[in-house]
Amino acid sequence: MLRTALFAAATSVLGLAIVHPSAKRDAVTYTADIKPLVDKKCLSCHVKGGSAPFPLQTYAQVKKRSDLCRRMMLTHTMPPCSANSDYGEFCEGGGPLSDDEGILLQEWIQAGAPEGNTSQPASVPPANDWKLGKPDRVLKPLNHVEIEEEGRPFWRAFVLPLGKDAGRKLRGFELKVDQPQVLRSATLAVARDGLIDTRRGKEGFNTGGSLDFDAKKYIGTWAPGYPAWDLPKNMALTLNGDCLVIQVFYMPRGKAESGDFEVGLHFSKDSKPVEAEWTTIGKEEFIIPAPGNLVIKAKGELPAGARLLGLLPEARFYCSSIRLHAGQQTLFATRRWDPYWAGVYRYLQPVQFKERTELNAEFSYDNDIHMGRNEGRSPDPILPGYREKDELCRLHVLFARR
Ligand code: HEC
Repeated sequence: MLRTALFAAATSVLGLAIVHPSAKRDAVTYTADIKPLVDKKCLSCHVKGGSAPFPLQTYAQVKKRSDLCRRMMLTHTMPPCSANSDYGEFCEGGGPLSDDEGILLQEWIQAGAPEGNTSQPASVPPANDWKLGKPDRVLKPLNHVEIEEEGRPFWRAFVLPLGKDAGRKLRGFELKVDQPQVLRSATLAVARDGLIDTRRGKEGFNTGGSLDFDAKKYIGTWAPGYPAWDLPKNMALTLNGDCLVIQVFYMPRGKAESGDFEVGLHFSKDSKPVEAEWTTIGKEEFIIPAPGNLVIKAKGELPAGARLLGLLPEARFYCSSIRLHAGQQTLFATRRWDPYWAGVYRYLQPVQFKERTELNAEFSYDNDIHMGRNEGRSPDPILPGYREKDELCRLHVLFARR
């Protein structure tokens, strides 16, 4: 992909210079071409107070980092919604750059990153408010959560009693967080009180990045800068349990900060909404050799008339990619799996299947010298499990029946 984009950019620039030496074409400028692109693809996070470390709201801010931005965009590292899919999109901003957008960016940087019309105001960040409107119910942890200044990223789970809202039908949820650069994602599930240690849970307990639940317990995922999690109209997910379990991912950034958050719940207003369901594709038994690679193939199925709504991949540090196909069509493919970006993979448009459909998933794992992105090669074989040094091979699939 990077190759194609770079090659296309190079040929296009040569093409302009050699084949059409006198072709009149407006020069690419920040104001006319780059600002709209950055606004669409970057601004949900790169704003003052957003989840990203610096804003990209003005010409000066973008120009200062134009080379780094180009590298991040052309390698599809940014925006971080790194899945590509033949079906629709997962991110409001449209995910990674298209080849045309890549060319535009190249031309702009090669032309010296000109500003163009200077009378433009800075881009306005979206307000830090509930995106889905006022929630029907707001839950939060019992105690203030303080993040220590030093340390590795970590996951912590909190148990939040549902009280009178147990058994209700959920239409959507979102978080409001104190520090979106510290609280980077959250996974929500529903459980019965007896199944977890509630006393421990109220204060929060550390996890290795996964809840040892079966798929039916999941609700969805959330991350700052991503769209809020909500189901299509007249669909809902029943809260079959008496408490919510929320697993939050924290990334300490060198100072003591608040890890506080609130979860806003929206209940269905429909009298008989269609129920959304989770099913899981994956394997519970495998061994990743040391050193070595492993590709795991697993099958699942959707009934005739099903609508595919979203995905929740679960894998850890030795995973390099996850793919999902239905026949020839790609439903999901990570360009590189990142356990720290437990992204929100919810189809903005549900995918409709007329016939009963077989789903084929492929999980790739690396435990050899090529595994560039992960923390280190293990001298021991990697086994399934919930600790950080274990692996998981699961793709939870959210769908609704006809
Ligand atoms: C969903 C949120 C989000 C979006 C959208 C997003 N970024 Fe980022 N960006 C981040 C976060 C978070 C970081 C900090 C990196 C980290 O900690 O993982 C970051 C880091 C960066 C960096 C610094 C990387 C480094 O190695 O220092 C650049 C450059 C960047 N982003 C450019 C962009 C550009 C350009 C866009 C739009 C095409 C974009 N980002 C869209 C969240 C986002």
